[in-house]
Amino acid sequence: MLRELLVIFYLGGVLTIPPPPPPSPHSLSNDEWWRDTFIYQVYPRSFKDSDGDGVGDLNGVTEKLDHLVDMNISGLWLSPIFTSPMVDFGYDISNFTDIDKTFGTIEDFTKLTSAAHSRGLKIILDFVPNHSSNEHPWFAKSIKKIKPYDNYYVWKDAKIINGTRQPPNNWLSIFFGSAWEWNEERQQYYLHQFAIKQPDLNFNSPELRKEMENAILFWADRGVDGFRIDSMPYMYEDSEFRDEPVIPNNGLQPDDPATLDHIYTKDQQATYDLLKTWRNVLDSRGGEKKIILVEAYATLPLTVKYFNYGANIPFNFMFVTGLNNHSSALDFKRSIDQWTSNIPKGNFVSNWVVDNHDNPRTSARFGVQRSDQISMLCAILPGVGIIYNGDEIGMENGPVSWNQTVDTQGLSAGPDRYMQFSRDPERTPFQWDNTTSAGFSSNIKTWLPVNPNYKNDNLAEQKKSLTSHYSIFKKLVLLKSLPIIKTGTSEVILAGKDILSVVRRQPNKTPVVLLINFSDKSITVDASAWLNIPDSMNVYVASVGSNITFGSRLDTTALQLPGAASLILN
Ligand code: NOJ
Ligand code: MG
Repeated sequence: MLRELLVIFYLGGVLTIPPPPPPSPHSLSNDEWWRDTFIYQVYPRSFKDSDGDGVGDLNGVTEKLDHLVDMNISGLWLSPIFTSPMVDFGYDISNFTDIDKTFGTIEDFTKLTSAAHSRGLKIILDFVPNHSSNEHPWFAKSIKKIKPYDNYYVWKDAKIINGTRQPPNNWLSIFFGSAWEWNEERQQYYLHQFAIKQPDLNFNSPELRKEMENAILFWADRGVDGFRIDSMPYMYEDSEFRDEPVIPNNGLQPDDPATLDHIYTKDQQATYDLLKTWRNVLDSRGGEKKIILVEAYATLPLTVKYFNYGANIPFNFMFVTGLNNHSSALDFKRSIDQWTSNIPKGNFVSNWVVDNHDNPRTSARFGVQRSDQISMLCAILPGVGIIYNGDEIGMENGPVSWNQTVDTQGLSAGPDRYMQFSRDPERTPFQWDNTTSAGFSSNIKTWLPVNPNYKNDNLAEQKKSLTSHYSIFKKLVLLKSLPIIKTGTSEVILAGKDILSVVRRQPNKTPVVLLINFSDKSITVDASAWLNIPDSMNVYVASVGSNITFGSRLDTTALQLPGAASLILN
């Protein structure tokens, strides 16, 4: 309104200064800075190596902050940077309040935070409360039964069957095999829902709960803007330690956690109540509201339930794990509509995750030709988009052989299954340019091999083209900040069997329309009739490989969509 008034005055010659630029994420001053923005996940080992040891680090992230500013990202979430033996590359923490030397020092962290803040970028840290490293000093004390540490982990006596020692129950680790590990010294088993070297912390201990609150406050006091909480559903287990039901005949090997129905090791009510305590701890500090993102691979009702316990962003993983290249346009429509209609009433905001460091890259999940379609959906749908480093240039899974495999999940799956389970391929170094190690490191040896396609596929190259993944993504971030995308109505409509579309409308405005061709063949469709949109519209962006000219005007009554293409019209 104010802006419109200014324009009127300006046209009337009253005002001599030009009206202010449209709001960008960086000028939002309200408490919920994340609304209608893109948040960017940095996997620090793979982003930028500043000291030539072949592993990315904090100074590397600081060096590259302008890349995020260029894209108009609102905040970055850093995967763990804390002291760690790196069995799970930082998700096994041996000191929750210090920085691992691979990544730098606490001074480097302070430098990064202030450099980010001075650019209007928010910093989100990974908080990993479900487990620590077995090298955390607490664990050594717990083994020795020193109070109160004796109770910091989940310990249980063995079950003796026919005179032999067996784990207390049938629970399986996410990384394969029994979730219980025998400890000779304490003569008990400890629970590890993830790697053997990641013992589960026991949130029934009030002292442990306090320690973890202190860890949150330590970083909040150092100016971080929020937290992504790791493995949230696993925080509490059944107090009776009952066996989990076996899913019959699913053809998997018996050590595979997918053979069990995880009703006793996940999603317990106490877990939700625990989240609420962290919300309260952060809120009662005062100051700008801290964002809480929750990582929960759970059913839709159990995911959206986190909204009511203090989460701002319970990750919506539908595009990551819910849908794949076999899903139809109708499957997409159903999933999107279900999410939207299941969000609790109130001041809650949707979110859409493009990708992360635990799943094959978008191009591997949906096909190289379709790697822009997921970012387009996440941009046009109302709410927050979450993107993983490399997605903005359509990075592909890197080839990593069994001998080069370093991911604990890949290693424990073994040589026959590692291709299916290893997370190394989505973690290969960021491809900045076509110099040594893709500009990621001055070292030719990097912790994971650089994808050999980097010579042509890199950020510097993509910056040269207005129709590259990078240029498309930049325009998608801009799209998110438009009033029609922030507050317009949103409909997911099928135009025939194979065309999915999202239409955003606002009274008296040209709609913004996404169309995705789910078939691999070219389709001509009367989009004007199916979607009730103008007869001719502009191409805002079109997917790489579609050969549709940006800015061209298309007749929507006979819109021709090449196979696998996606485009946004306005
Ligand atoms: C989820 C993290 O994203 C993943 O990388 C990690 O292995 C597990 N949680 C365990 O912390
Ligand atoms: Mg380094």
